[in-house]
Amino acid sequence: MDLQLTDRIVLVTGASSGVGLAVTEMLLGEGARVVAVARDVQRLEDAITPLDPDGSRVLRLSADVTDRSAVEAAVTAGAEHFGGLDAVVCNAGRSLMARISDTTDEQIREEMDLKIFGAWNVIRAARSHLAASSVGAVVNTNAILAKQPEAKLAITAAARAALLNLSRTLAEELAPEGIRVNSVNLGLIDTGQWRRRFETYRSDGGALDYDAWSADLAADRGISLGRFGTADEVAFAIVSLLSPRASYITGAHVDVGGGVTRQP
Ligand SMILES: NC(=O)c1ccc[n+]([C@@H]2O[C@H](COP(=O)([O-])OP(=O)(O)OC[C@H]3O[C@@H](n4cnc5c(N)ncnc54)[C@H](OP(=O)(O)O)[C@@H]3O)[C@@H](O)[C@H]2O)c1
Repeated sequence: MDLQLTDRIVLVTGASSGVGLAVTEMLLGEGARVVAVARDVQRLEDAITPLDPDGSRVLRLSADVTDRSAVEAAVTAGAEHFGGLDAVVCNAGRSLMARISDTTDEQIREEMDLKIFGAWNVIRAARSHLAASSVGAVVNTNAILAKQPEAKLAITAAARAALLNLSRTLAEELAPEGIRVNSVNLGLIDTGQWRRRFETYRSDGGALDYDAWSADLAADRGISLGRFGTADEVAFAIVSLLSPRASYITGAHVDVGGGVTRQP
């Protein structure tokens, strides 16, 4: 099926790794052009170059999504470079593993900043371009944690819930401008985040290899499919929601979590 993304211009944050990189690769496969954003520009370059060796379809830009003026500069540069912007994927981020009683006020503010402004800075800066497109769309990468909090991810879960709520409101507010806003909620996805946690587990003396360690975690979290998901499996959901074929879907969220059933 043609997803009608040929020559569409999509800005993806967190494009140097994991889900953002998989989305970028899938969009290129669909013939789209991508404005790829992350903070570490060398890491971004190293990740994107194999996908776009001559630099003609992916513009690589460094910006911290919590920095409003840096995001505005990136959006402007991307829209000028390709001549517009049809969609954005607000994906950049990380999680904070800590119970509320072990979290500092500064960490709470940083987490809220990353989850809320990390998306809102991008959407606000891109809004006029998305409104000018005939197929304007936003997908926010979120987490099933937004609906199923975990004590050891207390502030990340709260910030995720806030973003999920905000996405629904934005869907309503931006609909008159022809901009659709949807969310994709991740369960446990095998990306840099989990590889870094595995390294910590090993350096703390853990004996399991990655496959056994991740299978244990999947069982512990009640994941029906019994394994972590892959970045490609998430990218499929995101790219589908970006597609103009999803023209009647807004304010929705799709769980990509292997049927995680820890709570209703
Ligand atoms: N993997 C999971 O199991 C899981 C579960 C639930 C939700 N999520 C969420 O899904 C998204 C993608 O996760 P992932 O697993 O693909 O992560 P990842 O592999 O660690 O990649 C994170 C990406 O975000 C960029 N980034 C981080 N902070 C940024 C900032 N302040 N400004 C701009 N770019 C920033 C990173 O590049 P730089 O460091 O160079 O900036 C990198 O490109 C994140 O929002 C994550 O919290 C992941």
